[in-house]
Amino acid sequence: MEKLVIKGAPGLRLRGEVRMSGAKNAVLPAIAASLLTGEEVRLSNVPRVKDVETILTLIADLGGSCKNTADGVSLRVPKIRSDEASYELVRAMRASILVLGPLVARFGKAVVALPGGCAIGSRPIDLHIAGLQKLGATISLEHGYIRAEADRLRGAEIVFEKKTVTGTENLLMAAALAKGETILRNCAREPEVADLAVLLNKMGARIDWPDEDTARIRGVKELGGAAHAIIPDRIETGTFLVAGALTGGDIIVRGVVPEHVGSVIDKLRASGAYVEPAGEGALRVVGTSEVRPQDITTSPYPGFPTDMQAQFMVLLTQAAGTSIITETIFDRRYSHVNELVRLGASIEVQGDKAVVKGKTPLSGAEVVATDLRASAALVLAGLVATGETTVTEIEHLDRGYERIEEKLRGLGASIERVKA
Ligand code: EPU
Repeated sequence: MEKLVIKGAPGLRLRGEVRMSGAKNAVLPAIAASLLTGEEVRLSNVPRVKDVETILTLIADLGGSCKNTADGVSLRVPKIRSDEASYELVRAMRASILVLGPLVARFGKAVVALPGGCAIGSRPIDLHIAGLQKLGATISLEHGYIRAEADRLRGAEIVFEKKTVTGTENLLMAAALAKGETILRNCAREPEVADLAVLLNKMGARIDWPDEDTARIRGVKELGGAAHAIIPDRIETGTFLVAGALTGGDIIVRGVVPEHVGSVIDKLRASGAYVEPAGEGALRVVGTSEVRPQDITTSPYPGFPTDMQAQFMVLLTQAAGTSIITETIFDRRYSHVNELVRLGASIEVQGDKAVVKGKTPLSGAEVVATDLRASAALVLAGLVATGETTVTEIEHLDRGYERIEEKLRGLGASIERVKA
């Protein structure tokens, strides 16, 4: 077990340049998509994070071959030896559910453990299941596992009751190999979903977008290999932009797609930070000591991402006045609040709202990370807290941030990874 020790200082200003990694939430479905073909799928700009290791273990368990390349991974799944994603892996990473659609579409059968509860809320998968049923799969639930079977999936019209990112991804992959045309309405349009559709089309799928949140998939019999560079991680980008703003710093974040972080940039600017393009694929952020309070409501893309809620909350603890955050995506995504309060923040949770009263000085303490984005928020708080902040249980952080401590050190932060 490891922990991060941060020596913070209210006057520490991050300075310099930092490069973003490929998007965790784009690479996971891309790796699952390799199950749709016997040919090579070659992915680059792959972040070296724990969740990627977990899904590669799952692909290997199923019988696929995964080889590391200089900046990515080469995947090949000519056949499978198992069609089962174990509870152990699904519990370690809910996104393991992404193998359900591809396995049933190509091999006619998939057995995937039900994910169960999760640190950020109830997170059901009923919409994935209902969609696959509409495509003709027979689904049964037994002994904690979902079993999906189908001779060949058939195209259908599916209206998602609610926007779901991995649900849309599972159905795009399944429909790619279905017989006939599928229309998916009310799709999630996160950049990670769009990136998956680009990869699938390179593999020979026929997916287009008749309007903003409708996908049309004309099924094909087989898909082939492809090479694809994963898009930059917009949540890592947002996290570093907040780090720059929070510390009154001046940093350039490279390797980004600025429009993917539009809603975060809007809120940063409204809070008083300067955020402007700094050449191709780069953003400069300059923070201010006069942070203005903001009301924020999380919503599906292009709205303010739930995955940035915890990090932005840290900035708002330093705003002069009261901010209200409304979390609409997950029902228990405030586990960082108690830890931020231990550092001196004044935050009260009322149902789906968090009322943040600023400006409160923060002082270092030992805090525990409870999920991925909560951990990132605690690291950010540690940068501006006086004295030493120790963030424990950082395995959550390692699931989705590549070398975060090295990247922050490169900007002048004092942060060390030590044995717990
Ligand atoms: N939902 C249902 N039924 C379903 C599926 C979803 O009711 O069958 C509900 C969820 O309970 C939630 C909402 O729909 O209230 C949206 O959930 P969604 O399915 O979009 O979430 P997800 O696909 O499980 C992905 C990301 C999350 C990110 C959310 C929302 C991946 C691998 N994970 O999860 O990322 O928070 O979309 O944007 O793409 C993270 O990276 O820290 C993370 C949690």
